[in-house]
Amino acid sequence: NWTAGNVIADQIAAIRDQVGDAKVICALSGGVDSSVAAALVQQAIGDQLTCVFVDHGLLRTGEAEQVETDFVAATGVKLKVVDAEQRFLTALAGVSDPETKRKIIGREFIRVFEDAAREVVATEGEGGGEVKFLVQGTLYPDVVESGGGEGAANIKSHHNVGGLPDDLQFALIEPLRTLFKDEVRAVGLELGVPEAIVWRQPFPGPGLGIRIVGEVTAERLETLRGADLIAREELTAAGLDREIWQCPVVLLADVRSVGVQGDGRTYGHPVVLRPVSSDDAMTADWTRVPYDVLARISTRITNEVPDVNRVTVDVTSKPPGTIEWE
Ligand code: XMP
Repeated sequence: NWTAGNVIADQIAAIRDQVGDAKVICALSGGVDSSVAAALVQQAIGDQLTCVFVDHGLLRTGEAEQVETDFVAATGVKLKVVDAEQRFLTALAGVSDPETKRKIIGREFIRVFEDAAREVVATEGEGGGEVKFLVQGTLYPDVVESGGGEGAANIKSHHNVGGLPDDLQFALIEPLRTLFKDEVRAVGLELGVPEAIVWRQPFPGPGLGIRIVGEVTAERLETLRGADLIAREELTAAGLDREIWQCPVVLLADVRSVGVQGDGRTYGHPVVLRPVSSDDAMTADWTRVPYDVLARISTRITNEVPDVNRVTVDVTSKPPGTIEWE
């Protein structure tokens, strides 16, 4: 029978078996999945593990700091933070197609992990040998939607599954690969991962890169970060964090509309609020956020975020829409 305790015991044994005394790195985003995967692997092999947090420049406000403080404080893992913003923005320059973006981001992640692995060996000495394994917090739905499930169609290439390069140098450790999000949360709580992390809303690995419809640029990221922070602040203040599974904010960077702000005409961009309710992200319904909360978000975004002159709400279920726009 399924219990979080059984899953943990089985996975710890399997990981020890697979790894031996090799060194391991873990792709840590600070989200639920990778945090729980990291905590599990750490219990199995202790300081053979180094977690690598990649700041790809596609993060939301405050995210890097949260990982550096909260997760490390709670688990005591060895953490390596890599600033890779320029690398990702350069690789994404001129690209608008969603699947191409996903593949580029997946590839660049792996290249950064390869560099990080070499540095881990260099700083820790050759004692435990090279880094042969990469831990990822891949879940069952990621596998299915990337076309890896039985008879499944490729809906979108999750960066950690269909977005991986062919010449991957690491063997993968994916202890959550058969689990759904609610099961991962149960495993996380059992492992003592802090509730603030266990109950975090999902945020995709490719980050804001797949929430800008159009080319990803530093300026557009800045705009989207501003709008996203306001939406998160107001939804949290309204007490809706548990009811809402996640609320992507999407910048329609290739769309402009005419507005009037202050005493003049504007020709700015719309953002889309995409609040959804879901159990496992395989299907979702759009969340009926109270009008007064939507009104506050809209007023604040159009007042506080330059270049945004329209706020819209996506009222599409999944299916037919996916949760993210790309
Ligand atoms: P969609 O957009 O397919 O999203 O309905 C389902 C869930 O998966 C998240 N998502 C991702 N997570 N890497 C991730 O780690 C990805 O490439 C990725 N794409 C989508 C999305 O935020 C939602 O929770």
